[in-house]
Amino acid sequence: MSQKNIESHLVEKRVFKPSKDFSKKARIGSLAEYKTLWEESIKKPDKFWAREAAELVWQQKWTKVLEWKEPFAKWFVGGKLNVSENCLDRHLGTPRQNKAAILWEGEPGEKRALTYQQLHREVCKFANVLKSHHVKKGERVIIYMPMVPEASIAMLACARIGATHSVVFGGFSAEAIRDRIADSQATVVITADGGYRRGSVVGLKKNVDDALKGGDPSVPRVRSVIVFQRTGQPVQMEPNRDHWWHEEMAKADGNCPAIPLDSEHPLFILYTSGSTGQPKGILHTTGGYLMGAYITCKYVFDMRDEDVYWCTADIGWVTGHSYMVYGPLANGATTLMYEGAPNWPENDRFWKIIEDYRVTIFYTAPTAIRSFIRWGDQWVKKHDLSSLRLLGSVGEPINPEAWMWYHHTIGGGRCPIVDTWWQTETGAIMITPLPGATPTRPGSATLPFFGVDAAIVDEAGNEVGPNVSGKLVIRKPWPSMLRNIHGDRARYRKTYWSEVKGCYFAGDGARRDKDGNFWIVGRIDDVLNVAGHRIGTSELEGALVSHPVVAEAAVVGRPDELKGQAVVCFVTLKQDVTATDQLRDDLKKHVRHVIGPVATPDEIRFADALPKTRSGKIMRRLLKQVACGAVVTGDTTTLEDLSILAKLAGKED
Ligand code: WT7
Repeated sequence: MSQKNIESHLVEKRVFKPSKDFSKKARIGSLAEYKTLWEESIKKPDKFWAREAAELVWQQKWTKVLEWKEPFAKWFVGGKLNVSENCLDRHLGTPRQNKAAILWEGEPGEKRALTYQQLHREVCKFANVLKSHHVKKGERVIIYMPMVPEASIAMLACARIGATHSVVFGGFSAEAIRDRIADSQATVVITADGGYRRGSVVGLKKNVDDALKGGDPSVPRVRSVIVFQRTGQPVQMEPNRDHWWHEEMAKADGNCPAIPLDSEHPLFILYTSGSTGQPKGILHTTGGYLMGAYITCKYVFDMRDEDVYWCTADIGWVTGHSYMVYGPLANGATTLMYEGAPNWPENDRFWKIIEDYRVTIFYTAPTAIRSFIRWGDQWVKKHDLSSLRLLGSVGEPINPEAWMWYHHTIGGGRCPIVDTWWQTETGAIMITPLPGATPTRPGSATLPFFGVDAAIVDEAGNEVGPNVSGKLVIRKPWPSMLRNIHGDRARYRKTYWSEVKGCYFAGDGARRDKDGNFWIVGRIDDVLNVAGHRIGTSELEGALVSHPVVAEAAVVGRPDELKGQAVVCFVTLKQDVTATDQLRDDLKKHVRHVIGPVATPDEIRFADALPKTRSGKIMRRLLKQVACGAVVTGDTTTLEDLSILAKLAGKED
C-alpha cells in the first residue's frame, strides 16, 4: 500500500468488539474462552488435537498425535481416513443429505444446486472414471478447470481413490501447465473446453494441447485428458488421449468406496512462487490438512447448517481448496461457487448474488474490496445485503480505509470482519480473529489460531518487543502445515526452516502491538503480491530474459492503489536492439504468454545498465525507489541510466 496507508496502520486505534448477539450464538463467545483454549492447544497439543480430530471420520484411529523430527512432521500417526468420505459420505443418512452442498452460478447466469447426495454420486462416478483410466493411488492428476462444480468433483474424486491432485489456476499459461506436469510427473489431465470470464471464453483445452505438444523430454506422457463440456465451443480431441467428461460419466458406476488412506498420504500438490527459481510444489497430506481446513471453518467462520457461505477465491489457489471445497464440505455447509468476474455484466454482480442466494458469510480479498470502493456505493445500494452476518478478508494486508468501507457499506456495521492471515504453505488460517470473541482492529489479523505459536523475531532470531517490526515465524508444527516441497526435501528445509533456527519462516514481516495483535506488513523476500497473487520476481525475470532481445532484467513491486503491488520491470537489451513502444508491448505479451495474465507487467522500463553491487547483486532497493517515482522518466523511449544511481548510492547493498 501507499505510504499513507502504511502510516495509518501505525496509528490505527479503532477497536470493534463483537456484538453481544453474535457472541451469544458463536462457538467461542469471549476472549477469555479463546485464551483458555489457545493455551491448551499450545501447552497440551495432544489433548487439544485428539479432541478436535475425534470430530473427523477415521477408518482407523491414529496412535500418536504428532511425530516431529524437525523439519518433518507426521500428524495423527497410524490413522487412516479419506477426505472425500469426510466431505460427503458422513453427511448421508443425516438431515444434511438433501441440503445443497454446492450452489453454483455461471457467469452467463445459469444456476445449479447439488445436494450432498447428488455430489456424492457425481464424485463416486468420476472416481470410477479415473479408475477406468488406470489412475492409481499416489499417482498425480492435473486439474485445469474453470469455476464449475466439476472442478470440485474432480478434486474429491482424486481424494476418494488416493490420487494426488494438482490444480493449476485457469489463468495460467500453457508453459505453466507444462512445468507443473513435468515437476509433478502427472499422467492425467482434467480440463474443460473453456470457461467464461468477463463475457469471453477462456480456451483451457487449447492451452492443455499446447502444453502437451511433444518435444520436451522432461514432460511425461500424459495418457488421458478428460474434457468437461462447459461452453460447447469446438475443440480438438486427440484420438485415444482425449475423452469427453459426459461420455465417460455416462458409462460410470455410481458406487465407489472411499479407500482408507494413511493420515500422511499426499492429498495435493499446489504450486506457488518463491523468491528463487521455479515455483515450488507445496505438498499437503490427508489427516492434518483436513483437520486444519475443518477446524478453521468451524471456529473462524463459525459455520452453521443454515449458512450460505461464499468464498470468492478461485479453486486454483489454496483459498479455493481449503475454503471453497474441503473446509466447508467437511463441515456440511452450503458453499457457493461463482464462475466469473465481479463486474460482469455490471459492477453489482457480487451484490446481486448475495441478495439472490441470501448469502450469510462472505470471504473475499482486499484487492477486490478496493475495486468495489472505486466502482462506487451505488452498485451496493441497489441490493439487499441484510442476510450477511460475517465477512472475511484474505490475501494481503487490508488497509484500514478498505476495512472500514467493508464494515459499513457491505456489513451494514453489524457483521464482524475476520482478517485471516495464512499461506499456501500453512494450508489453513493461522492468524485471525474469532468472530464472537476477538475485538477487531482495522488492518490487523489480530491473534493466532489454536495450535499456532506465532512470534516476531529480529535478524538474530530473538523475539522482539511490542511494536517492533521483524520476521513473522511459527515456532511449533501445526496439523495443516506443508510436509515438503514435492520431491525436494533439501529445498524444503532450506526455504522454510533454516532462516530462523527452529522456526518456520515463509517471508512475511510483521509487528505485534501491546495487546498481542499481529499487524502483517507484507513480504520481505523477493516475492510480489499482485492483486492477492504471489509472484516471484525471479519468475518474472526469467520470463523476460527468455525473450531473444533481452539481456538482463530486474523486477520490483511498486505500491498500487488497487492491486496492492504493481509489477515494474527494468530491462536491458542486447546490443543493437532499439527500445520502442512496440517492444515494450511485445515484452508484456511475452511475460503474459510465459506465466499467464496474472503476471502481466504494469510497466517496462528500459535501462542502459542495472545498478549492481560490486559482487554483482542487483540493488533492488534502489530500483524500488526508482519505480516509486524517485526518478522521473522522460518520454517512453528514453533509456534510464541506472548506473549513475548505483554510483551515487555507492554501497554494497
Ligand atoms: C501471502 C500468502 C492464504 C491464502 C491467500 C494467499 C499474504 C495472505 C494475508 C492477510 C496480510 C496476507 C502474505 C502471505 N497474506 N493473507 N490477511 N494479511 N497478508 O496465499 O498465495 O500463499 O500468499 O499472502 O504475504 O505470505 P499465498
